[in-house]
Amino acid sequence: MIRVLITGGNGFLGQHLCNFLSKYPQFDIIAVSKSERRIPSYIKCGFIQADLTDATATKALLQTVQPNIIVHTAAMSQPNECHDNPMECLRQNTFTVRQLLTQFETLPITHKQFIFTSTDFIFGEGGPHDVNDVPNPLNLYGQSKLLAEHFVAAAPIPTAIVRPVFMYGPIWQGLRNSFVQWVASQLQKHQPIKVVTDQLRTPTYVNDVCWAIHQMIIKEHTGVYHTAGAEIVSPYDIAVATAEVLQLDVSKIIPVTDSDFPEVVLRPKKSGLHIQKTIDTLGYHPTPLKQGILNTFKAS
Ligand SMILES: NC(=O)c1ccc[n+]([C@@H]2O[C@H](COP(=O)([O-])OP(=O)(O)OC[C@H]3O[C@@H](n4cnc5c(N)ncnc54)[C@H](OP(=O)(O)O)[C@@H]3O)[C@@H](O)[C@H]2O)c1
Repeated sequence: MIRVLITGGNGFLGQHLCNFLSKYPQFDIIAVSKSERRIPSYIKCGFIQADLTDATATKALLQTVQPNIIVHTAAMSQPNECHDNPMECLRQNTFTVRQLLTQFETLPITHKQFIFTSTDFIFGEGGPHDVNDVPNPLNLYGQSKLLAEHFVAAAPIPTAIVRPVFMYGPIWQGLRNSFVQWVASQLQKHQPIKVVTDQLRTPTYVNDVCWAIHQMIIKEHTGVYHTAGAEIVSPYDIAVATAEVLQLDVSKIIPVTDSDFPEVVLRPKKSGLHIQKTIDTLGYHPTPLKQGILNTFKAS
């Protein structure tokens, strides 16, 4: 049995990953999260409530679980929240990673791997970016994740970094809407929505990230992998694709530019990630956007 500890188990990726990996009998999955369990009981995983910023709690957690693999998805994942709470952002996104690594390194376990979920926001403008492009984060969220990447890369145990982009996918009770659910719910109520045309991303179907992490575990891959979609699109394009897939009224989607939504926190206009290395190394085949949207609503 390979024991996998998934941090951020209550989160969007965390719950999907528990669901995905728990279908393989060779894994014993334990999720950890700050709040009480929100993972549905039909997803077969253990659950421990713990705050990973607490060094004592983290040590006790690792002593109890004795994981072979840690997939670290826990984070302060909203750039605006990071901007408003800079010290807490660094504590959650950076120092927690170092603490978790240090404690994991000392565990007397032979087969170990640490997989860290980073982001395209470690880069600045000029996307989509290649794995080895020079990082230049525009906001504290990106900076906090980049600093954490440095700790992961320097660790004396096998580590891997995945960088997803603008994830979407099915939700269930206990998970908040991703962008496509928001679009669908507004259009189903015949509400017009304003969506920006001048930001580019490579939106990622969440199951593709789970698939890639599974491959990285079973093939013991290390290094940095971009786990994103293949299509370079704007939020407006995603909204239109959602309306088309669900046969909703596309004319209710009003194209605007990001100057219509002045943001305190800088975000790259052209972000997104190239995925060729992941295709070549893992045999990654990202789900096409419209197929991902269809899967999202078929499964919800
Ligand atoms: N969502 C995206 O589009 C996207 C894109 C690129 C990269 N990422 C990265 O992917 C990862 C997963 O994203 P996500 O959208 O799934 O995030 P999410 O839904 O916000 O989930 C993060 C989870 O982390 C847990 N957590 C936060 N601080 C913790 C702590 N101190 N101790 C224990 N648990 C803690 C929270 O727990 P509770 O709910 O239990 O309080 C939360 O459920 C993050 O690292 C994020 O930076 C996300």
